[in-house]
Amino acid sequence: MPTFLLIAAATLLFLHRWPIALALNQEGLHLLQAKRGLVDPGDSLADWDPRDTTPCNWTGVHCSPTGGVIAVRLTNLNLTGPFPADLCRLPTLSFISLSFNYINSSLSSSSLLPCSSLTHLDLSQNLLSGELPSVLPSLPLLRHLDLAANNFSGPIPSSFTVFPFLEVLSLTANFLNGTIPPSLGNISSLRQLNLSYNPFASGPIPSSLSNLTNLEILWLAGCSLTGEIPPSFSRLSKLTDLDLSSNFLTGSIPETLSGLSSVVQIELYNNHLTGRLPSGLSNLTFLRRMDASMNGLSGPIPDDIFSIPNLESLHLYQNQLTGSVPSTAAGASNLFDLRLFVNQLSGQLPASLGSHSPLMYLDLSSNQLSGVIPRGICNGLVLQEFLLIDNNFSGSLPPGLAQCQSLYRVRLSNNQLSGHVPAGMWGLPHVWILELSNNSFTGEITGDIARAANLSKLLIDMNQFSGKIPPEIGLLTELYELSASNNQFTGLLPESLGRLTVLGQLDLHSNLISGELLAGIQSWKKLTFLDIADNNLTGGIPPEIGSLPVLNYLDLSKNNLNGNIPMQLQNLKLNQLNLSDNQLSGSIPPIFNNEAYKTSFLGNSGLCLDPTGLCQNSIKRSQRHIKFLWLLTAVVLLACIAWFYCKYRKVKAAKKMQDESKWTLTAFHKLGFAGFEILESLEEDNVIGRGSSGKVYRVVLGNGESVAVKKLWRFSKKGYQNRDQVVDDAFEAEVATLGKIRHKNIVKLWCCCSHKDCKLLVYEYMKNGSLGDVLHGSEACLLDWPMRYKIALNAAEGLCYLHHDCIPPIVHRDIKSNNILLDAEFGAKVADFGVAKAVEEVEMGQRSMSVIAGSCGYIAPEYAYTLRVNEKSDIYSFGIVILELVTGKLPVDPEFGEKDLVKWVCSTIQHKGEDHVIDSKLDLFYKEEIMKVLHTGLLCTSSLPINRPSMRKVVKMLLESSGESKGKSSPRHEEGNLSPYYK
Ligand SMILES: *[C@@H]1O[C@H](CO)[C@@H](O)[C@H](O)[C@H]1NC(C)=O
Ligand SMILES: *[C@@H]1O[C@H](CO)[C@@H](O)[C@H](O)[C@H]1NC(C)=O
Repeated sequence: MPTFLLIAAATLLFLHRWPIALALNQEGLHLLQAKRGLVDPGDSLADWDPRDTTPCNWTGVHCSPTGGVIAVRLTNLNLTGPFPADLCRLPTLSFISLSFNYINSSLSSSSLLPCSSLTHLDLSQNLLSGELPSVLPSLPLLRHLDLAANNFSGPIPSSFTVFPFLEVLSLTANFLNGTIPPSLGNISSLRQLNLSYNPFASGPIPSSLSNLTNLEILWLAGCSLTGEIPPSFSRLSKLTDLDLSSNFLTGSIPETLSGLSSVVQIELYNNHLTGRLPSGLSNLTFLRRMDASMNGLSGPIPDDIFSIPNLESLHLYQNQLTGSVPSTAAGASNLFDLRLFVNQLSGQLPASLGSHSPLMYLDLSSNQLSGVIPRGICNGLVLQEFLLIDNNFSGSLPPGLAQCQSLYRVRLSNNQLSGHVPAGMWGLPHVWILELSNNSFTGEITGDIARAANLSKLLIDMNQFSGKIPPEIGLLTELYELSASNNQFTGLLPESLGRLTVLGQLDLHSNLISGELLAGIQSWKKLTFLDIADNNLTGGIPPEIGSLPVLNYLDLSKNNLNGNIPMQLQNLKLNQLNLSDNQLSGSIPPIFNNEAYKTSFLGNSGLCLDPTGLCQNSIKRSQRHIKFLWLLTAVVLLACIAWFYCKYRKVKAAKKMQDESKWTLTAFHKLGFAGFEILESLEEDNVIGRGSSGKVYRVVLGNGESVAVKKLWRFSKKGYQNRDQVVDDAFEAEVATLGKIRHKNIVKLWCCCSHKDCKLLVYEYMKNGSLGDVLHGSEACLLDWPMRYKIALNAAEGLCYLHHDCIPPIVHRDIKSNNILLDAEFGAKVADFGVAKAVEEVEMGQRSMSVIAGSCGYIAPEYAYTLRVNEKSDIYSFGIVILELVTGKLPVDPEFGEKDLVKWVCSTIQHKGEDHVIDSKLDLFYKEEIMKVLHTGLLCTSSLPINRPSMRKVVKMLLESSGESKGKSSPRHEEGNLSPYYK
């Protein structure tokens, strides 16, 4: 007996020492099989060790007390690959979460069917595509299904109405289409229904959803919903969250909404709701957040809305609300966020507004509110954003603001506020923007501004501030914009200004500043705008200004500056230069000696135009120089003779192709050619293209270089002389804007010649023609993937510049592959922007409103119902260009049948797979990168404008797509913003 025990003990000991001798159980083997199908770049599953006996201690694996695997939770691990179907072979597995990974391909019914114990399936935030698996309702125990933020497409399967126990259904942010099936109202167990942000076909909210009386969360934002909010929603007595924002809902907000007795959050913003806000909302005792902004609501704000005991946040901005802010607002003891801007509210604010509320964000801008700012507005000491722009507020600022250390955005411009800024308010430590423009403030900027360490924008123009600009301003290391024009500032510019290294805009025009311009300004590396016009500056223009790398607006007119114009100014790329009305002398640097700068140097007595020696009008200041005047007259006479002689020769030369009437030439760059050279060469033989607005010629100049000349048709009917003038002026103004644009990815507009019958636009010549011609022509094989990628990126950068860096932003309105031109190295530049608009506006004058913006195949879907073009329409068109680059297909092609390119891409991916959308001329070696770019293209072509990324984002996404930055997280994940909580 003891011997037997000994043997048994020895055996146990042996087994313990050599666990490898025991094989991994079957569940572990299934898990390893699942792991094998996934790429795990961070080696997060390194501890899934085949030598273990059970998987129960592995990352993400959980076992029941009896040892069976019941849950696999592998979130946010960068796992890539198709859904690991082997997981469904674990017999007791009830919980799977693989959210925030890169799970791709489609989700097949057969892989899920064996998951019969599953209660919880979370595959949100991945890259799954194809249709939703219709088999899901057959999983008998499923309670929680989250497939949000993937690329699922197609309709919601009809089988989705027969889930026996489903409590959570989230399909937010996919590409689902079709309409929302009314039969979802049969899943009576549902507690959460999240369908937001899918490109559903437009249709009403199914009133059957009111049958889901267990519903706690209902998200239907961005679902193309039309019609009215069903009054029967009041039956949803357990509902805490209702989000119907960003749809096309009409009618008024039903009174019955006050029956949502559990509701905490109501989001109705960005719809077409009209009528009055219902009364009775004070019954909603749990309501904390309500947003009905961006609608057409009218009438007064009901008094009792502020009696909702827990109300924290009320957004009613951008409506047509009238009446005053109810006095009850002052008693809302939890209210921290009140935004009522852009309405028609009037009257005074409740005197104790802010005294009893923890106000943090208050924006009442663009109303007709008057009276004084309530004294206790920052009594809670937590006010961060304080905006009252464009109202009629008067009186002085409440002294308490000086103690309001929490403030970081203060915007009070365009009111009638007066008096001194309270002592201490200049130096609030967190204020990032202090905007007091266009009021009647007086007094000085005090030295305590030194404490405003975060001040980036100080905008105090159009007031009656006086005294010196304090030297302490030089301590504001974050200061980007100082706009203090139209005040009564005196004294010298403080030397310390030269130390502001991030300064971008300095506008001090129309003050009484004296002394010399600063010399040590080399640290203004980011300065783009410098305007000190209309002051009493003396001395010379410091040559250092010429070394400011990004300066493009320089106005020093109406001062007493003297001396020569430094030649260094020629280094600047200026959109605006004004040195008029000073006492400058010497010659004008040659680069400025052309039409574009003809108004830049007026009223400088001693200044001569080089090289003709023609001096500018100077009567005012030249009495002391009568001798000089005589000389001048002689020179003028000579110059006139020379000018007439030249003119005569030019006219003669141009006569060959046009009548004698005059051409005017407006140059935007220094030209190396003369206008007549171009006029002479506009012959049929030189035509390289034809568009809706005119022909394009290639003109080879005397110096051997080429330019492209676009000749626009006559666009006005004869016999409307006055209108013609208006039309011409509008055209010229528009073209002048375009001429000022300088960006490496935008085709340079050299000059514009106009004549009463036609206009010529002279552009830089792009050797390889348009992307459209190359891509869809016989030379398409020249464009391999790296080239196409570069073209997409170049064009995106050009467009991004137009949208984000031009003031005002320029909407191209006609992005298409034929408007993206390729230079000798196949670098891409955007062409033809804005001209479309100039031409169209001109045409609108006489033709009725039938002008379509954009080109067939590139027009964003919302244009059909809004007839409005904005940046988002450009982004859609750009998305189409991306799809062209990836597929090599035309945007409209009989091959697609009823579909457009976007639908063709989506359905081909879905039915045949990704490889079938990629241009067969491309090397699949780049497939991964191509698919990322395609994804960006698809996002740009989202049917809901709200889902399209900005061009900044597009550029970023394209950069992240390239091989160099592999492994960066998917941009879609950053976008987040799926829940109204994050708004
Ligand atoms: C996932 O990838 C990102 C980006 O490369 C990285 O920062 C992160 O640490 C990775 N996560 C894991 C768990 O490997
Ligand atoms: C599980 O892992 C922990 C730490 O890695 C270890 O201490 C423990 O002994 C392991 N348990 C089993 C049952 O393997």
